[in-house]
Amino acid sequence: MFGKVKKSKSRLVNVNEMIQKAIEGKYAIAHINTNNLEWTTAILEAAQETNSPVIIGVSEGAAKYQNGFKNVFDMVNNTMEYLNITVPVALHLDHGSYEGAKKALEAGFSSVMFDGSHYELNENLAKTKEIVELAKKYNASVEAEVGTIGGEEDGVVGQGEVADPNECKMIADLNVSILAAGIGNIHGLYPKNWKGLDFKVLAEIKDTIPSTGLVLHGGTGIPSNQIKKAISLGVVKINVNTECQIAFAQATRKYIQDKKDLDEKKKGFDPRKLLKPGKEAIKDMVIEKMKLFGSLGKA
Ligand code: 13P
Repeated sequence: MFGKVKKSKSRLVNVNEMIQKAIEGKYAIAHINTNNLEWTTAILEAAQETNSPVIIGVSEGAAKYQNGFKNVFDMVNNTMEYLNITVPVALHLDHGSYEGAKKALEAGFSSVMFDGSHYELNENLAKTKEIVELAKKYNASVEAEVGTIGGEEDGVVGQGEVADPNECKMIADLNVSILAAGIGNIHGLYPKNWKGLDFKVLAEIKDTIPSTGLVLHGGTGIPSNQIKKAISLGVVKINVNTECQIAFAQATRKYIQDKKDLDEKKKGFDPRKLLKPGKEAIKDMVIEKMKLFGSLGKA
């Protein structure tokens, strides 16, 4: 008879300790979205090589693409074991729905964002409260959101709203670990006429909820000086997705334009070769972001 399959125990941590340290040390943790095995490996290698804590983000759409939350959990967890990753890693549902957050927790995610920003405030508060209670049972952390973040994320389109500090306080009082508050940030590429981050509102939010870690979504394309200022005003988690996608696409395009995939002798068509430059480009981008956010050596 076959032996029983042994399920590997979770190597993931929630974000609480890494966020607390980041608040004290005035730096930000990189949240990098993953899309597949190349992404996951690149993110984990970047974190380990630079001794940085990291948050691996997965949207519901990206989880579906990777055949579900369980598959994502197993891939991240098993890759950590295989590569001997010892830095703190959280696996975090990005912009989760109410049902999605529950499913991700069940599958072993160590952190979830419940994005109730499109509900009216009382419903957002009630649902966030339930998810916080449920997450406690899994020792997982929760990110909440007030004020929609602009741009498009997996079909959800926001208007680049700016959050109300009083609403931030109401959500923070539910004991969420981190809070995404819109301050004029946008997912994807910023339009030429973008006005920049609203630092006045960011400072007001920080004054209102000094002990809650603030999250900056839409990390792609925000100029370095604005990133640094946001960190100095209390941002401790910065989400980056599009920039890694562009880096991957550019490197893959170059490989094909150089006709390396057509080199039959070297088997340039082998996916391990074809996807390697893209994977390395993601890794370089993640390290660049960690350096900018000040998290190198903070594991
Ligand atoms: P970008 O794709 O703009 O980097 O935003 C990522 C993000 O905020 C994920 O939640």
